Amino acid sequence: GPLEETAIPLFFGWFLCPSFQEKLKSMAKDFLKTLAGLEAFKKHLSDFTGEAEKEVDLEKFFQDKGMLHCTTKFCDYGKAEGSKEYAEQQSVKDRYGNMSELTLSTLFLTPRTLGARVSLSEEQLQLWPTGAEKEAVPDANLPIGSRAHVTLGCAEGVEPVQTGLDLLELVQLQQQGQEGEQVEDLELGSLTYYGKGMWVLSLKEPTVAPACFSSYYG
Ligand code: A2P
Repeated sequence: GPLEETAIPLFFGWFLCPSFQEKLKSMAKDFLKTLAGLEAFKKHLSDFTGEAEKEVDLEKFFQDKGMLHCTTKFCDYGKAEGSKEYAEQQSVKDRYGNMSELTLSTLFLTPRTLGARVSLSEEQLQLWPTGAEKEAVPDANLPIGSRAHVTLGCAEGVEPVQTGLDLLELVQLQQQGQEGEQVEDLELGSLTYYGKGMWVLSLKEPTVAPACFSSYYG
C-alpha cells in the first residue's frame, strides 16, 4: 500500500546553512548596488527595462525565491523522468543528510534571473543527475555539472527553473569562445558583459558555502 512506499520529494539538493544564506544574500545585494552604479551597466539598461531612459531598482527587480539551495534532481514528486531511479541511487541514500562545501565561482544575472554558479567537486558530481544538461540543451555538449547553481532571485513572473537555463546559455557562449566584453575589475572580481543583459562576475576568491544534502517536499 501507499504507506510502505518511499515518497519522492519535489526536489533533491544542497541546502545552504542559514547563516551562510544571509551572507550570500548580502553579497548579492552589494553586487547589485555596485552594478547599478556603473556607467557600463547604465549603458545597457534597456536590456532590463525595454526603454533607454527608464530607471531600474535591481534589488526590487529580482524577487527572493526562498531558501537558498543548489538543486540536484528536480523530481516533481516522482513525475519527472528518472526521479525514482535517482531517489534509489546508492550515492543519494549514502549522502542524504551529509554536509558538503559548495564552491561558488561566479555571480550572474540576466533580465530574468540572478544566480551563483556552483563548481562541483568530483565527489559532489556523484550526486549530479545524468542528463541534466542534455535535457535543457539537447543540441550541445555541455560539461556535466555545468548547470549547477543557486537561484538568488527571479524577475516578476519568472520561475526559478530559468536560472539554470540562463546559466547554460552563458556556458554555451563561453564554450563557443565568446569572451564577452571585459567591463571592469571590481572588489569582488572581474565583470563581463555577454550581451542581451547577461552579466557575469567571476569571483576573485571562490566562496565556499557549507550546505546539507537533503530534499524538499513542500
Ligand atoms: P532552481 O534550482 O533554479 O532554483 P518550483 O518552486 O518551481 O517548483 O521549483 C522548485 C525547485 O526546483 C527550484 O529550486 C527550481 O529551480 C527547481 N526546478 C524546477 N523545475 C525544474 C526543472 N524542470 N529542472 C530542474 N530544476 C527545476
